[in-house]
Amino acid sequence: MIAPEVGHRGVPAASATRGRIIIAVDGPAAAGKGTLARRLATTLALPYLDTGLLYRAVGRRVLDAGGDPRDVPAALAAAAALQVSDFARADLRDPVADMAATAVAAIADLRAALLGFQRSFGGAQGAVLDGRDIGTVVFPDARAKLFVTASAEERARRRQAELVARGVAADYAQVLSEIRDRDAQDENRPVSPLRPAADAMLLDTTALDADGAFARAMQLLAPHIVDEALLRKA
Ligand code: DC
Repeated sequence: MIAPEVGHRGVPAASATRGRIIIAVDGPAAAGKGTLARRLATTLALPYLDTGLLYRAVGRRVLDAGGDPRDVPAALAAAAALQVSDFARADLRDPVADMAATAVAAIADLRAALLGFQRSFGGAQGAVLDGRDIGTVVFPDARAKLFVTASAEERARRRQAELVARGVAADYAQVLSEIRDRDAQDENRPVSPLRPAADAMLLDTTALDADGAFARAMQLLAPHIVDEALLRKA
């Protein structure tokens, strides 16, 4: 069980980030956050957490139990039962999991239940985390915040290519419509909506490949990660 706060109402107190190197990478679906955040973590020798997997694993558990991902008790029960093995499932990134994750992510109590795990991730060292609300809610005092975007059309193109590479048939128009739908749900939900933190650095990857996005991110982060050890590794 990885979510000890399930069932408790309200949001846990803000995390203590003093001395920890927390890099927040937020943005909409398929903007290139995951690839970028993973590479930043490797380069900076920090642990990496894809927080979307938490919502995906909860959504999948709800579906497995025959429940509705919008149902609050079902989502909280699924979170309470999460095991490490849930994150290794092969079906966390298909379109059904996309929609289930987006639905459970709109539940305030579920988000509160998952906060403690995210805030303690990486321990005293810190971590790179990607998601939608890392810089606004999970770590408002993160060392550095990136908000990674790309046009909806480019994100749909990337998502379609990723699905096809995995052998999943995917129609571009449908992928684009699903991306727009998920954007709208993530941006308009009342709890922790997707939006850049006031102090986030914007990184538009529409015209950048993975190497270009990484190089630009390192430029943006450099003034914030002046720790000697990090500079040696970067
Ligand atoms: O990043 P992703 O596509 O794997 O995220 C899946 C869903 O979870 C998506 O609808 C956004 C939501 N999510 C969220 O609300 N907060 C996060 N920190 C991470 C993901």
